[in-house]
Amino acid sequence: MDFYLDSANLDEICSVSWFPIRGVTTNPTIVAKENRPFLSLMEELIDLKLPQIHAQVLADTTEEMVEEAKMLIRLSPGTIIPKIPVTPAGIHAIWRLAQDGYKITATGVFTVGQGLAAAKSGAQYIAPYINRIDQTGQSGVSMACELKAALETYNLPATILAASVKTLYQLKGLIEGGIQGITVQADFLNQVVYHPLTEQAVEGFTQDWLKTFALRTLDAPVKSRGKE
Ligand code: G3P
Repeated sequence: MDFYLDSANLDEICSVSWFPIRGVTTNPTIVAKENRPFLSLMEELIDLKLPQIHAQVLADTTEEMVEEAKMLIRLSPGTIIPKIPVTPAGIHAIWRLAQDGYKITATGVFTVGQGLAAAKSGAQYIAPYINRIDQTGQSGVSMACELKAALETYNLPATILAASVKTLYQLKGLIEGGIQGITVQADFLNQVVYHPLTEQAVEGFTQDWLKTFALRTLDAPVKSRGKE
């Protein structure tokens, strides 16, 4: 499973440099939060040298989506993967761009049908919104797994990049389903690896070490013992 950060915030992205993310994903809401010119923000994201940046178009007509997608790709070919929402205009734009060999992420996916339509149109990545689907009373994880099965059934080469993943339970379901990628917020990565029993175990190791050694270093001398 590849992990991405759903963020355009440089500090936030750098704060998880301890984890091997495959890249970042953005959308107009995420970019607007940064409150600065889009192109200079993109330049700084590109300078981070992450393998992938999934950046969303803003337009809502096919023609303009295609133009925006090509403009985004030109900023850093091979790194930028345009995200296009699965509206009818978006599906048409994905189809046109895929025919020209461009990799596209289909976003805003709430149903298996939308995901399948995007994959049939040639999208490389499909982004179902897991938590937002849960909020409709359906299961986002089940939908993502059904979509993965449908892609396999029809031999479609698209892979799933699950978005709007908010809970460890959702993550567990996505892992069990073999979902290929997820995009999350920085705090979530901390939640993924944090466990109080891990902290307790590490603390126990340290305390036990210090009963015998004078320092917490592997080359520390053994403590001198008093007369027995
Ligand atoms: O990448 C899609 C994502 O930004 C939607 O997630 O957190 O707004 O539900 P969220």
